[in-house]
Amino acid sequence: MSSVPAVATAFAPASVGNVAIGFDILGFSVNALGDRATVRRTAERGVRIKAINGVVADLPLAAEKNTAGRALLAMSEMLNPDFGFELTLEKGIPLSSGLGGSAASAVAAVVAANALLAKPCSQLELLKFAMQGEAVASGSMHVDNIAPSLYGGLVLTVGIDHPRVKQIPVPPAVRAVVVHPHMFLSTRAARAILKSSVEMKDFVWQTANLAGFISGCYTNDLDMIRESFEDVVIEPQRAALIPGFSEARRAAVSAGALGCSISGAGPTMFAWCLESHALAVREALVIEFAHHGLETDHWITTIEPQGARLV
Ligand code: HSE
Repeated sequence: MSSVPAVATAFAPASVGNVAIGFDILGFSVNALGDRATVRRTAERGVRIKAINGVVADLPLAAEKNTAGRALLAMSEMLNPDFGFELTLEKGIPLSSGLGGSAASAVAAVVAANALLAKPCSQLELLKFAMQGEAVASGSMHVDNIAPSLYGGLVLTVGIDHPRVKQIPVPPAVRAVVVHPHMFLSTRAARAILKSSVEMKDFVWQTANLAGFISGCYTNDLDMIRESFEDVVIEPQRAALIPGFSEARRAAVSAGALGCSISGAGPTMFAWCLESHALAVREALVIEFAHHGLETDHWITTIEPQGARLV
């Protein structure tokens, strides 16, 4: 027991999820930004949130209403340790940005808390605790931000009650361009507008595109990735929520992107491209948002299979 620390800090990266065609099941980590959680052991059992700092203020401090707090409560209820968790959160991911901020907070919290346990949990167990936290933020139990933030890289998750997680290889030449316009879009609201049924022809295209995209990744086939990089179900329904989305997407593809879509529920947009096109693709997106009066933050990054870690 003496080797188990009394306090630990973890970093969990931002993530893009959905990756266009993989609604609620496919996401990738963006290590350029993320959230940090410091968890301290306390004599009093339960979960207490001491402070939330960083780029987001005004998040609930009541553990059951906070994504990271809820994830820790799930952990504490399942494991029933003879001590409590005190959490300090440092937010690096903007609120309602579509960059998986709630997921990253939950993931960072459970990874830090795990370091305080004499018998640490598996990654899969941590995933399930963090999923409870995500449900607080978005009202649904999806995994496409949680899984890449925890495992790292491009991650496919199949199943909710018994999730199976697969890290998919990303062709080494691929770069991700991520552009965040300065506006808020609530995940709940962006989910609430979605129709509950899908036309047969869209079902066929979406299935083909997801299969094509994944097989393109496994076989390093950039043409296959380009051809299948089209979400025909969710993106058309959400496009109107993001000012200038269609023009921005078109401009990114003209600048050489393999594909471009909404990051999660938006408003952030992302594109995949070769390194040689990355600056032009980023510029295209930034300019289109500027035409609509929106300033942006932006990143160009590789997609490394490195997820949450102790720091
Ligand atoms: N898959 C989710 C969505 C991600 O697109 O609604 C947002 O958290």
